[in-house]
Amino acid sequence: MIISSTTDYRAAAQKRLPPFLFHYIDGGAYAEKTLARNVDDLADVALRQRVLKDMSQLDTSIELFGEKLALPVALSPVGLTGMYARRGEVQAATAADAKGIPFTMSSVSVCPIEEVAPKLGRPMWFQLYVLKDRGFMKNALERAQAAGVSTLVFTVDMPVPGARYRDAHSGMSGPNAAMRRYLQSVTHPQWALDVGLLGRPHTLGNISTYLSKNVSLEDYMGYLGANFDPSISWKDLEWIRDFWKGPMVIKGILDPEDAKDAVRFGADGIIVSNHGGRQLDGVLSSARALPAIADAVKGQIKILADSGIRNGLDIVRMLALGADCTMIGRAYIYALAAEGGAGVTNLLNLLEKEMRVAMTLTSVKNVAEITGDLLVREG
Ligand code: FNR
Ligand code: LAC
Repeated sequence: MIISSTTDYRAAAQKRLPPFLFHYIDGGAYAEKTLARNVDDLADVALRQRVLKDMSQLDTSIELFGEKLALPVALSPVGLTGMYARRGEVQAATAADAKGIPFTMSSVSVCPIEEVAPKLGRPMWFQLYVLKDRGFMKNALERAQAAGVSTLVFTVDMPVPGARYRDAHSGMSGPNAAMRRYLQSVTHPQWALDVGLLGRPHTLGNISTYLSKNVSLEDYMGYLGANFDPSISWKDLEWIRDFWKGPMVIKGILDPEDAKDAVRFGADGIIVSNHGGRQLDGVLSSARALPAIADAVKGQIKILADSGIRNGLDIVRMLALGADCTMIGRAYIYALAAEGGAGVTNLLNLLEKEMRVAMTLTSVKNVAEITGDLLVREG
């Protein structure tokens, strides 16, 4: 199979993964309108082509929260990453590390913090969800701190899971899910060997460590629905702000008023995101929400953005719309599912190459020069 893009990795991932996992990754909420818009709206952003300015020396690096990033990209937190490739969090994090960009571990990862952080040369980022059992939050923060995690990503757009219709049909949830998943793994032997057999234990590593017992993945979506805490509000974040000494970033901001609240709260950054179209379907794409948010808070707080980035040109587009740094979810997950850590490495190299082409053809020599000035203003 020829691999030259995220689209190719998506096709390869679909071949290798049992359908319940592929559709969990690939799908979104309800009619998946926002999922589609995330990609389409970014692809529609027209940049000004400028020529003949000696683009032989380009610098793709940035500084963010005191860290140097080789690319203006971090890996977004993705639940169950260890189910897409053997101990997938380790493989993805190691690839990001070698490339010089941060990996963000999800609260609902398969590998626990302690399995991944010591294998990396740079500090990991950690994403926190709030469970009804608030002891988890404190325990996770203490463990993250002990493991040298630098940046805390606090996700706020999933107080309850969105309605993902594909999951019920695919065997992720719904009737006879366990039996259907078993049958799917039999017909996907590469995955069954690599992950099903050799990738154990299949548990929610961080939560299992906290509870000192294995929390299995039998009814994962049911577990999230029953244990995530919809009562969460800005007030709950205050003690985290006091406890966490490093940078704290709020993920899931889509409205300028919430962005201003994040500034008032004292966050170090926000991630403009609609969770990859997995939560409130119909909301604006990140590409469309971003300019108004940047108008409201740019310069007062770091603005990161994800949802819809599929190539290196999209990274430049997101920066031109107002982001200081981007994040990627599905793009690296497809690559991981298809080819493990080597796939993530290859994907990141592709993104860099494409970013360099986009920078060359828009005549920007470094990331600071990627501003709204690059956008074609219609009319
Ligand atoms: C996610 N996302 C996510 N976000 C988060 O804060 N914690 C999590 O555990 C997860 N889990 C998760 C699982 C899967 C399978 C996907 C696809 C996404 C959202 C993720 O961090 C990110 O916001 C989106 O993936 C960005 O959109 P793209 O890049 O996938 O279009
Ligand atoms: C998801 C969660 C786990 O989007 O964030 O499935």
